[in-house]
Order: sequence, then structure tokens, then C-alpha cells
Amino acid sequence: MENLPILKDLHIRITSSCNFNCPHCYAADWFGDKFELSIEEIKSLVDQAIELGCKKVTFTGGEPLVAKCIVEAIDYCLSKGLRVEVETNGVLVDKIIEGLGKEKVKKVEFAISYDGVKMRDEKFAKQVRDNIVKVSKLGCDVKIQTVLTKLNIDEFDDIFQFSRDNNIRNRCFLAHSPNGNGKNLSLFEIKEWLTIVKKLKEKYPHVIVELPDVLSGGMQKKCGWGVHRCEVMPNGDVTSCAPITFNKREFIAGNIKKQKLKDIWASKHFKDIRNLKQSDFEKPCSKCIYWKTCLGACRSISSSTGGKLLSPHPFCKTLYDAIKENKIDRELIPNTELVDAWIKGIDDDNFKPNEELYELVVRKQHKLI
Ligand SMILES: C[S@@+](CC[C@H](N)C(=O)[O-])C[C@H]1O[C@@H](n2cnc3c(N)ncnc32)[C@H](O)[C@@H]1O
Ligand code: SF4
Ligand code: SF4
Repeated sequence: MENLPILKDLHIRITSSCNFNCPHCYAADWFGDKFELSIEEIKSLVDQAIELGCKKVTFTGGEPLVAKCIVEAIDYCLSKGLRVEVETNGVLVDKIIEGLGKEKVKKVEFAISYDGVKMRDEKFAKQVRDNIVKVSKLGCDVKIQTVLTKLNIDEFDDIFQFSRDNNIRNRCFLAHSPNGNGKNLSLFEIKEWLTIVKKLKEKYPHVIVELPDVLSGGMQKKCGWGVHRCEVMPNGDVTSCAPITFNKREFIAGNIKKQKLKDIWASKHFKDIRNLKQSDFEKPCSKCIYWKTCLGACRSISSSTGGKLLSPHPFCKTLYDAIKENKIDRELIPNTELVDAWIKGIDDDNFKPNEELYELVVRKQHKLI
């Protein structure tokens, strides 16, 4: 078999069930299916992932903490020396603290969702906040994940003040994927997006904003789509992007109940993604100076708003149109100098990927110049 990239990051969507039904949730169409991976399936999967170079496993779902074998599954991964992250709504964290014990639980990394009270189950909001503080005080690595939408934008200060007061990292998604329950929620207009980004940067600089690079004006940690990350769905299907698969069940590379993970990792689904070139994407991505650091941003949001897997991110498309039509206040645009170069590249009929410019963008984003 040819050389394969390291599978650094394995996401296990351990169950399709959840104890909530959030109004933005992309996974909601699967709640009725009651799929759940067994401990034997997880152990075999983790062993195979280690052979492919895996160093970190993320348990998510649905809600991973409602899964029967979650404590045993985490314990198994820790015993193999893996980093373990649990992405959770935060209500049931005691199950892990009690199941693993206060010493072992310190090794678990938590990504706990907190989007204020209106996006979640209101009666649990205080419990979630208390649990975030609790795992942080136990010594666990914890970050808060927030999705901002029109439903919770008026809770903006409460949400980010909470993470700042408690000195806890906060990762903010400024666009939701319009799938599952999220189909019924409209996205922000471009002026609203830019205003929120500006306010976040000025008032809550500790917040990491997940946006295409041209808008965030900052270096983002990429999801590693197809290249070094893979996701296993609650029914054993394997995909490069679960939010897409929750919406489009046929978007899969194989199934761990029938095939070896190595064969799935080497399959056409992953190969096609690894072979994608910038020019395969639609404009503006195809002619974007941020390409090397952005790689087209979130494919779930882009494909569900644009209709194709390689459609542009809606932010970038609307930003480009708004600038060309003089419909946007330049004061709102972060990094105007680079945005101007971005527009110039897109408008250039002879655009060619420019390694030097890419280098400049990366260094600027890293604040090296
Ligand atoms: C699907 S949930 C699964 C884990 C857990 N139940 C939780 O809520 O954290 C994982 C993350 O995706 C976010 N999420 C859910 N629906 C989304 C959507 N339509 N667009 C973007 N993020 C979404 C959640 O807010 C959460 O931070
Ligand atoms: S976002 Fe998480 S907690 Fe909310 S319904 Fe979806 S899976 Fe459940
Ligand atoms: S145009 Fe495409 S590659 Fe460029 S910043 Fe936007 S999403 Fe990223």
C-alpha cells in the first residue's frame, strides 16, 4: 500500500442520541436512529488508528456522555497513551469524574459547549457553567465552544464575560452549518458578521474566532479535513466530515464493521480530498491569497449554502460581492491591506498561486512581521 498520511486526529461519534435538542444542531436528523458503537468496536478502532499514527481521540456525538461505554472507552484510550478530548454539552461530566476518579480525569481534555441559555436547554445552563468551572478546578484542560447565532447574539457579553472571568479558553463559531435543526436558522448578514468580529477582537481578544482567514484576519487551527483527520459515525460509517454526513448519509468512505480502518483511510474518498488543488474550488477560493492557510474553510457550511462540495464559504462570497458593489464600510474590515490584495488576486484573470505572497500572509498572521 502506498504511503499514507498520519491519521493524527480520530473523532468518534460514539452515539447518535442526545439528552438535548438544540435549535442549531446539525446532528439532529440522526437522533431517532439510536446508533451506538460498542466497547469492542471502539477498542478495535482505536488499536487500528494507533497503527496509522493516531495520537489523539475525540469523543463526540450526539452527546457522548449518554453512551453506555463512554468511561471504559476513555479509560482504554488513556491506557494506550493517547490524548483524549470529550466534546460535550457538559451536563453529565460527573459520570466521567466519578468513573475515572479525580486523578485520572485530569488527563481528559474537555470541549464544553456553552452558548448562553437560549440556544440550549435553559434549565441546565447554570449546571453547565458550574461543571465547566468544576473540571477546570480539577486541573483538566478545558475550552468552551460557542456557536453564535441570531438566537443568542443578545447574550454575547454574558457568554464571553463568563469565559474571561474564569480564565477559560473560548472558541467561537460565527456561522452555523445550516443542517439538521440548523436548517431553520438564518445566517448573519455580512455587516453583522463583520461587526461581531470587530467587537470580539476589541472586547474579548481571548476568544478564538472560527472564520475564513480573510475575515478573521488571524491564523486558525484547521480541522484537517480529509488529510489527517477522520470521523467515525455512530453506525460505524467513516467520513472526512461528520457535519456533512449527518446531512448526506452517502458521504462516506467505508464502514468499520465491514472493512479495516487502514483500507478506508486509503480509499478513494480520502484520496480524492488529498488530491484537491486550489483551482478545483469555486471562486473566490480558487484565486485566494489565503488559500494555504485557509484551504477553503469549513466545507459543511460552504457545501450546504453553495450546493457543491467545493463551493466557496458564504462569508467570502458575500464579502467579495459587498466590496465590489461598495456596500461595505471599510472600517469594519479587518486587515484591509490584505483584503485589498485578496480582491486583486480574485480579479486577476491570470492569477497564479503565489508562494511568496502565501508566505507573507502566513507570517503576517503569525505576527512575525
Ligand atoms: C454536535 S455537538 C456534539 C457534542 C455535544 N453534544 C455538544 O453539544 O457539545 C458538537 C459541537 O457542534 C456544535 N454544533 C451543533 N450544531 C451546529 C451547527 N449547525 N453548526 C455549527 N456548529 C454546530 C455544537 O454547538 C457543539 O459545540
Ligand atoms: S449540539 Fe450537542 S447537545 Fe445540542 S442537540 Fe446537538 S448533540 Fe445535543
Ligand atoms: S476565499 Fe476561500 S480560501 Fe480564501 S479565505 Fe475565503 S474560504 Fe478561505
